[in-house]
Amino acid sequence: MHRELVVKMNGTYKRLEGKVAIITGGASGIGASAVHIFHEQGAKVVIADIQDELGQAIANKLGEDVCYIHCDVSNEDDVTNLVDTTITKHGKLDIMYNNAGVLDRPFGSILDTTKADLDRCVGVNLGGAFLGAKHAARVMVPQCKGVILFTASACTSIAGLSTHSYAASKYAILGLAKNLASELGQYDAGARKEQGAH
Ligand SMILES: NC(=O)c1ccc[n+]([C@@H]2O[C@H](COP(=O)([O-])OP(=O)(O)OC[C@H]3O[C@@H](n4cnc5c(N)ncnc54)[C@H](O)[C@@H]3O)[C@@H](O)[C@H]2O)c1
Repeated sequence: MHRELVVKMNGTYKRLEGKVAIITGGASGIGASAVHIFHEQGAKVVIADIQDELGQAIANKLGEDVCYIHCDVSNEDDVTNLVDTTITKHGKLDIMYNNAGVLDRPFGSILDTTKADLDRCVGVNLGGAFLGAKHAARVMVPQCKGVILFTASACTSIAGLSTHSYAASKYAILGLAKNLASELGQYDAGARKEQGAH
């Protein structure tokens, strides 16, 4: 009988057994939920965030297969260190989940939106996704294997759900994901987006 079927019947099958994953924005919200699910499914997880106490507390609670690394995803030195430290610790990177994100403000007219609002959304949401993908690809291409995920938003399908800065930053992630798939598909490293609720 096929091994996968046997372990499923025993109830011990874990979909991410043996995988190494980085989850940005993993200290709270959707990212923290993903950390718990990836861990339950057998992955070794690296939480990357700027909320050090929250991120470290999750790592302490979940044990040796989960660790925390401080990383501002909009800072390339931090992202370089994140990926290099993961490779030093685990020897490979299978899944890069670029989830960290910020809203500039709850809502507002274009007339109220400042360039600083736009810069913040684009810097963290798009810049973080770009840097995460770039440094994941740096180690995944030689492996000829890997998955790069993004948390986008339903605001890319439904107009008016979010601020203009946020919508622009999340739309850009869709373009990035498609373009990455076009380049990285040849190495079998897929780029996918996850769609959230706003
Ligand atoms: N909550 C929603 O309804 C919803 C809907 C659609 C999409 N999203 C997206 O889902 C993702 C997670 O959002 P959430 O709702 O869980 O919010 P959240 O605020 O709970 O989580 C975001 C996490 O990202 C971290 N973060 C922020 N800036 C960072 C930076 N520069 N570097 C590293 N980490 C940083 C925060 O510390 C936080 O832990 C975001 O990309 C968000 O845009 C959320």
